[in-house]
Amino acid sequence: MTHEIRAIFDRIAPVYDQLNDWLSLGQHRIWKEMAIKWSNPKPGDTCLDLCCGSGDIALGLARRVGTTGHVYGVDFSPNLLETAKRRAQSQYPQPAIAWVEADVLNLPFDNNQFDGATMGYGLRNVKDIPRSLKELHRVLKPGAKAAILDFHRPSNPQLRTFQQWYLENIVVPVATHLGVKEEYAYISPSLDRFPIGSEQVELAYQVGFAVVTHYPIANGMMGVLVVSKF
Ligand SMILES: C[S@@+](CC[C@H](N)C(=O)[O-])C[C@H]1O[C@@H](n2cnc3c(N)ncnc32)[C@H](O)[C@@H]1O
Repeated sequence: MTHEIRAIFDRIAPVYDQLNDWLSLGQHRIWKEMAIKWSNPKPGDTCLDLCCGSGDIALGLARRVGTTGHVYGVDFSPNLLETAKRRAQSQYPQPAIAWVEADVLNLPFDNNQFDGATMGYGLRNVKDIPRSLKELHRVLKPGAKAAILDFHRPSNPQLRTFQQWYLENIVVPVATHLGVKEEYAYISPSLDRFPIGSEQVELAYQVGFAVVTHYPIANGMMGVLVVSKF
């Protein structure tokens, strides 16, 4: 399963950024900025971006921590990490971002290392959500915050119907046009299985986070889970 998911993301890499812009009408940039802000990065901080993909959020963190800070982007797709590396070198060479090829379920970091963390559209894809939250909790410093952005199933039935219609009739056909149908058809079933906000809050408390809030955004079609460690 892990290998299959990694292969999916490796295949998407060449069209990933273009598709995100088209399919969200550029809105994903705003949602990612919200997650960055909620993770509270400050100049000089050491921050972590889990499931960094092509690097949008890690680049945003780098702008916030400045030249005295450090950013680590972790992903298990070599192709997306390669895209991230190229973008970082051309767009934002300082501070250098460390791109780490690893599984977020087994982070190659010591305990209590990071001042803040983000994860964009990653939690829905990991095969063990509690374990992923536990690893995140382990590597954060006491007092640190993390913000986890992902799709969300809105509680309003009309909006949920619209979301399903959009995924089926806009997202999949556009992805088909770009030759990555199977990869984008995967969003809808993964969202069906994904815990809703209140369930995510419960899971985060269970692994030891002290303060946890889920913020529905985009009319509840997206959500940001904000967790703090004491
Ligand atoms: C939908 S993309 C999101 C990329 C980026 N965060 C963004 O928002 O544009 C999901 C990413 O999670 C990565 N991923 C999924 N499961 C992972 C795991 N267990 N360990 C590391 N990376 C993983 C995939 O390779 C992919 O790059």
